Amino acid sequence: MKNVCVITGGGSGMGLSVAKLLEKDIYIILAGRTVSKLEGAVEELKAMGKEVEAYPCDVSDRESVKALAAHAAGVGNVKMVCHAAGVSPTMCDAAAVFAVDCLGTVNVNEEFAAVMGEKSCVLNISSSAPVMLPRANVPRNLYPLADKDPDAFVKNMMITVNLGGPDFASGMAYSLAKDFVIWYTKTEAMKYGRKGIRFVSVGPGTILTDMGKAEAADGDMAMQLAMMGALGRAGEPEEVAELMVFLLSDKASYITGVDIPCDGGSQTGFQRLNEVGFGDPDAFRPISAIKQIGIITDDLEKTKAAFEKYGIVGWMDVQVTVGEQFFENAICYDKPQMFSVKSTTTSMLGIELELVEPMDEHSDYAAFLKKNGGPGIHHLSVETNDIGAVEALGKQVVVGAKIKGAPFGYKYFDFQDELGLILEYFPYVYNK
Ligand SMILES: NC(=O)c1ccc[n+]([C@@H]2O[C@H](COP(=O)([O-])OP(=O)(O)OC[C@H]3O[C@@H](n4cnc5c(N)ncnc54)[C@H](OP(=O)(O)O)[C@@H]3O)[C@@H](O)[C@H]2O)c1
Repeated sequence: MKNVCVITGGGSGMGLSVAKLLEKDIYIILAGRTVSKLEGAVEELKAMGKEVEAYPCDVSDRESVKALAAHAAGVGNVKMVCHAAGVSPTMCDAAAVFAVDCLGTVNVNEEFAAVMGEKSCVLNISSSAPVMLPRANVPRNLYPLADKDPDAFVKNMMITVNLGGPDFASGMAYSLAKDFVIWYTKTEAMKYGRKGIRFVSVGPGTILTDMGKAEAADGDMAMQLAMMGALGRAGEPEEVAELMVFLLSDKASYITGVDIPCDGGSQTGFQRLNEVGFGDPDAFRPISAIKQIGIITDDLEKTKAAFEKYGIVGWMDVQVTVGEQFFENAICYDKPQMFSVKSTTTSMLGIELELVEPMDEHSDYAAFLKKNGGPGIHHLSVETNDIGAVEALGKQVVVGAKIKGAPFGYKYFDFQDELGLILEYFPYVYNK
């Protein structure tokens, strides 16, 4: 039985580059909307000695994809699906981006999962574009609708992108659509892993296909992202296709449920620039990361149970920290003061939540409870690139302690006058 590789969007760009690199014993089906383009690609591949045919398909149309999957299963064992069909913001409006890039991915992944089996792989193409999305604006809660109610999915996603104004709608839609592809690939990997089907996505940076060139020419955002990357250049389709062919093959048999960037370091470059606020990388940054939200409570077990009721679980065992046993150099309000607390944390949501219950009246934790009239957010735990410079700001240390036997502990500085916040620095390294 023939092993078949279906390549959606195979008439051009990265899809066609994958077809050129595939082993000759794999039967290739190129799918896309423009028949003349597919036929040109078939001729080119046949001249290279490949077994290949064209099959017209619009991935945004479920019936069209169903027919493609049935046809491919009739030809042989559908071992590989390279889903490279997609549109970009310069080509169409936001609704079309969602219809092709999101619903097209659902249609292709689901219809092919129904005809694929052991040792097969579906490869989706994401992008480095989602790295630029403000995380708070990413409506991942809407993503499951794409399977259950596609019309409601597009309608709600459109409401989200229109909030940013018409100038940004299709660009925002593209970044969200590719974030969806990353999420959906992981969802499908979990759904079909036990059936032996792997699902992976590859996230290209700016790649000089027809689509990539059009994006790079329009407002230049795509090219700016490429230039921010470690390599400082756009990529060629073959540079991504090599990775895609590897991932599709049995050589990648243990890789599934992940997005693998192939972007000349564009995502890394963008993240690095963000870490320094697009400014001087060596400038003093009193807050370079936010790691934890600290909540003070007068009844840790009760507050923990309340969080669990609202879906925040995964709390660590409660730690009882008796000051005399654990701390040295304990201070409150810049003066020596021993104190004891109970605490627990969970990292379930990506940012740590900490619950602290004071066990005596001696610390700022106890004073906070009194002042606040009950539990509440007390501090943010943050990182800085220069703790000495933070210290030199002269803010009052409301709580601090060195951990016995360790060179470090923590200090909470009072930034309430300027930020309305207490900032915790942990680990705070004690030099003396
Ligand atoms: N190039 C980049 O810089 C870049 C960066 C990140 C991600 N990507 C993604 O990589 C994928 C491949 O893009 P590419 O750069 O190789 O561009 P491309 O050459 O334009 O390839 C896209 C292909 O998708 C097909 N297609 C579009 N809509 C379709 C639909 N509804 N049904 C079936 N086929 C459809 C197109 O053919 P027809 O129009 O004839 O159907 C075309 O052959 C896309 O998902 C793109 O978003 C590209």
